[in-house]
Amino acid sequence: MHWDALVDAAWEARDRAYAPYSKFHVGAALLGVDGRIFAGCNVENLSYGLTNCAERVAIGAAVAAGVTRFLGVAVVADTAVPISPCGACRQVLAEFGVPKVLLCNRDGRLEFALSDLLPRASAGILDRGE
Ligand code: THU
Repeated sequence: MHWDALVDAAWEARDRAYAPYSKFHVGAALLGVDGRIFAGCNVENLSYGLTNCAERVAIGAAVAAGVTRFLGVAVVADTAVPISPCGACRQVLAEFGVPKVLLCNRDGRLEFALSDLLPRASAGILDRGE
């Protein structure tokens, strides 16, 4: 997996973060199986609870463009330790089977399998044994 273009797109999207409340800017970029890149930034809301993380904004952009199969996602923030996606975003990434997650700060990158960040994401859900 060549991450460089994805990481660049994520940093670029981060510049557009709407984060007046936390002032914490995050960027994400997904690589579709067709090679297209879909980026997202966090979009906050006065209610706080309606905030959308960068990862879910990127998923929304891709799905709206008709892309639902992915090779990986890069997530970037200017933190001391590479950022880690929240549980809700892990579940949404799992919905679309995003296999790989690259977590980045200015200095480094950590690569994970999504299945390690969120084991058993869908085990048993909707399985009523009927
Ligand atoms: N945030 C993301 O966009 N992605 C993450 O992986 C972690 C957190 C956002 C949500 C909120 O706007 C701000 O960062 C602080 O939590």
